[in-house]
This record gives sequence, C-alpha cells and structure tokens, in this order.
Amino acid sequence: MSEKQLIVLTVNDAEYELLVEPRWTLLDVLRHEVGLTGTHVGCEHGVCGACTILVDGEPVRACLMYAVQAEGYEIRTVEALGTPEQPNDLQQAFSEHHGLQCGFCTPGFLMLAEGFLAQEPAPTREGIREAMSANLCRCTGYQTIVDAIEETAARRRGEASGPVAEPLDPGKETVG
Ligand code: FES
Ligand code: FES
Repeated sequence: MSEKQLIVLTVNDAEYELLVEPRWTLLDVLRHEVGLTGTHVGCEHGVCGACTILVDGEPVRACLMYAVQAEGYEIRTVEALGTPEQPNDLQQAFSEHHGLQCGFCTPGFLMLAEGFLAQEPAPTREGIREAMSANLCRCTGYQTIVDAIEETAARRRGEASGPVAEPLDPGKETVG
C-alpha cells in the first residue's frame, strides 16, 4: 500500500480535504471519500463514459484521472445539476423525452451534454449525435437522448418553451 497524501479537491463549490493514495482514481475518491455516488462506475477503463464529470467545464472520464491530479481544478458532478424534486432543465428534458430507461448511463450523459452545450449553444442534430457517441447507452437507442439535448439547447436560446436552468458557473451555488 502506498503512503497517503493530503489533497484538497473543489467539488460542486465545496472544498474537501482528503487523505488519498496516489493510485486512487478521481472516480473512486468522489464516490467513496467525498460521498457523491451520482457518478457511476462502468468499464473503469475510459470506454463507456458512465463516469463523466466536468473538470474546469470540460467533460472528463473520472476513471482515467487520479484524484491527486485534480487539485486546483473546479470539479462538477451530476449532483451540481438538480434534485429529483427540482431537476434542472436538461434533466427535465431527459425525463420528458424518455432519454433514460435503466438510468445507469444517465449521469454521464448529462455531464457530457452540459459540457457540450456550454461550448456549443446552437448545435446541429448531427453535432449532438457525434458528441454523444462518446458515451454508451444500452437501453434508449440514443434518439431520445439527442431529442432531449436538442430541445434543451433550443430552450436555452429562447427558441422553445419550457424550463431553462442557469448555466453551470464555477461560482454558482450547488442545488441540493
Ligand atoms: S467507467 Fe469511466 S469510462 Fe467507463
Ligand atoms: S438508460 Fe440504460 S444504459 Fe442508458
């Protein structure tokens, strides 16, 4: 067993002092040390995207990053979006369009989509499909996921009716 190191992680606007082994992934530390289990564990080798989070706004696979590498970055997990009682607009659109079935892949898709929409506020359907092809879903067939993201983008641009969430800013209060 390696010697543990003291690190400070900034997750969803909160700071956590953590004693971690250098070999522990950010995914395991988020789940087991920070207690945020919304980020799911799938393949653990960078293929499925179930563990996708935002690091300084960029979608990152948390299973491919060591926790000790994440110091100094602004980390956002699915818990930053909304709650079952108060989903954000993207979560609401996933629900409206049936963009999930078993839900295992959903946290990863939500964070991938949030990072994508922050960079591409007016994406083409093809662009959404290409971006979402980074993650795997075994249930939905992807059409409904693409529909949900397309509608969220349109709502955020004011081109469709429905709820619109504040963008995920580093300084924004975490919901829930
Ligand atoms: S669990 Fe990280 S990509 Fe599959
Ligand atoms: S909803 Fe089941 S894997 Fe995507």
